[in-house]
Amino acid sequence: MPFKLAVLPGDGVGPEVVDETIKVLRAVGSRFGHEFRLNYGLCGGVAIEQEGTALSKETLKMCKQSDAVLLGAVGDPKYDDPEAPVHPEDGLLALRKGLGLFANLRPVRVYPALVDNTNFKPEVIRGADFIFVRELTGGLYFGRPKRQWRTSRGRRAVDSMSYSEQEISRIVRVGFEIARGRLKKLISVDKANVLQSSRLWRQVALEVSRDYPDVELEHMLVDACSMRIIQNPRYLDTLVTENTFGDILTDEASMLAGSMGMLPSASLAGVPKEGASIFGMYEPIHGSAPRRAGQDMANPIATIMSMAMMLSYSLALTREAEAVEAAVGQVLEEGYRTYDIMGEDKIRVGTKKMGDLIADRLGG
Ligand code: IPM
Ligand code: MG
Repeated sequence: MPFKLAVLPGDGVGPEVVDETIKVLRAVGSRFGHEFRLNYGLCGGVAIEQEGTALSKETLKMCKQSDAVLLGAVGDPKYDDPEAPVHPEDGLLALRKGLGLFANLRPVRVYPALVDNTNFKPEVIRGADFIFVRELTGGLYFGRPKRQWRTSRGRRAVDSMSYSEQEISRIVRVGFEIARGRLKKLISVDKANVLQSSRLWRQVALEVSRDYPDVELEHMLVDACSMRIIQNPRYLDTLVTENTFGDILTDEASMLAGSMGMLPSASLAGVPKEGASIFGMYEPIHGSAPRRAGQDMANPIATIMSMAMMLSYSLALTREAEAVEAAVGQVLEEGYRTYDIMGEDKIRVGTKKMGDLIADRLGG
């Protein structure tokens, strides 16, 4: 049975990094004997331009009928005007909500080959390896009321950080499941000293923890967590947090890996269990980088590693995922670098060459 994949390249550098990822996916197919059927769709600025909406019903339906979705990036400075009636990001949010992708996994790994390539002291970050489980369909992004209005004393706006216990318990469960497969230490990040939604979060996390006696649970305030990430990242293993906190902390954490261009993500529609496959969408954590678009510059590794996550979480192809990870590691060891991770005495390559190298190291 061929695997059915929806591919949404999106805006800016999105199509470039997706092309390289498909190249690597084809190499996986020929080495391991799998067939991947791809259906392309539009999302973001390109969709607004060509279809009049950031995500059409047809594209959403096509995604629902697939085994997994691969997405490049969305965002276009043309729509930066806050008054614009529609934004490319709306397409991404509609996908997350429409596909029920409540669990966003963002692994952060410091590659040995890149340990001297960041703004941090190598001895602080060497060996850091942790994963964020970010809630993705609740909190400030979707809570109601959410609006801006005029009053006699000027304009006002509100966003609501609202969570139900069901929303909290299912994401915390994902945290525990992931922690179970790692070092069995889960940090739940909140702001329970101030926010009601965080107090509920903490209560529910404690309740769910009874089902996971083998996993140690620690609560950490989000401000302290932001400090810990750069002060002692090796302390961290698995973290679970709400939508906005996760958005902010993962950009921060990406710097440990040397570049946003290194960090993949998986957005899942259920609780991942060992050996079972689950529907998901896979995308790099970086944006569309419009200033880099069309120049064969962007680092495709984050998207390629997202595809590796797709192989393991949605298609149950663990060996294949490991082969992709190994190929990426090898190319980095050999000294090849895109501009964002360039270092002394390294070999600078563009997007396409990086894709070629990784596909080549996979054999196939
Ligand atoms: C991310 C991005 C998105 C988010 C934007 C593009 C809407 O920053 O995936 O982290 O805020 O979730
Ligand atoms: Mg973000």
